[in-house]
Amino acid sequence: MKEGKLVCLGIESTAHTLGIGVVDSSGRVLANELATYRPTDSGIHPREAAQHHAHAAPEVLRRALVKSVSSADEIDVVAFASGPGLGPCLRTGATLARAIALKLGRPLASVNHGVAHIEIGKLATGFRDPVVLYVAGGNTLVTTFSEGRYRILGETLDIAAGNCLDAFGIEAGIGPMPAPEIWAAKGQKYIPMPMRVKGMDVSFSGALTRASTLLREGARVEDVALSLTEAVYSMLTEVLERAVAMTGKKEVMVVGGLARSRRLTEMVRDMVKLHGAEHRGIPDELLGDNGAMIAWTGLLMFRAGQVVSVEESHVRPRYRIDEVEVTWLGPSRS
Ligand code: FE2
Repeated sequence: MKEGKLVCLGIESTAHTLGIGVVDSSGRVLANELATYRPTDSGIHPREAAQHHAHAAPEVLRRALVKSVSSADEIDVVAFASGPGLGPCLRTGATLARAIALKLGRPLASVNHGVAHIEIGKLATGFRDPVVLYVAGGNTLVTTFSEGRYRILGETLDIAAGNCLDAFGIEAGIGPMPAPEIWAAKGQKYIPMPMRVKGMDVSFSGALTRASTLLREGARVEDVALSLTEAVYSMLTEVLERAVAMTGKKEVMVVGGLARSRRLTEMVRDMVKLHGAEHRGIPDELLGDNGAMIAWTGLLMFRAGQVVSVEESHVRPRYRIDEVEVTWLGPSRS
């Protein structure tokens, strides 16, 4: 191993975003470049998204390298997001990572996307042992580290919170997030929504169905947006509160694209205060899917000896965060 700082290049390609980031072992983000696939209609087409990533890769990689290093030889480790995500998208990112690792003769780190959201959040906040709400278009879960793994304390039983709000926005003709939150700010009337919380699990499909029915019945889009966003954020805050109360931990962070929501942040902050805990925000560019989070987690894994050979570098579309052995954190603090 060379003296001084290590440098890791990380590739994110689980869904809409192709992100390539470069991070050093002091935690400095040297580059965090991305290109985002925007579907022509409402849904994401996995093969189209993968083609987008393959097409965008040379340029995004070039930008990331130009910003971060004087020569690609300075890269010590190559990391890629191996899951969870869409198969064709994951394979595109993994192929690129393997090619770079082979060309440079460097080790590969296979990174769980959800774990990467948590690790970059910890780097940005300085938190050591937080309770984490991970909310995005495709994921909704509450987790914390315990006995060698990030344990899933609660999760959505049906659709992800971001997916619920995106689907509503598209149906209402205003577009996906952040549009529903922007329209919600103009809402005047809260219409009761079904709130489904079971233990630390949540379910959003009932609220989405109710919102669709209200739209069809001619309710004002602003009022439905207000009611739905308030219901979704309240459910999320409630399960997070249960996790904070149960674990007694004092650090709370929200990661994933939906963590950009001002209203959700406000609710979480109010709740956290009641428990004598602390919430810290994370810069927007590190909240959504990005390459820097993969690079940073790859670096942590590499330092703990957690690397894979090219032959072992499979993708895992259904890779859950609690399947990852978190060897880089040492023994449990819980
Ligand atoms: Fe994500």
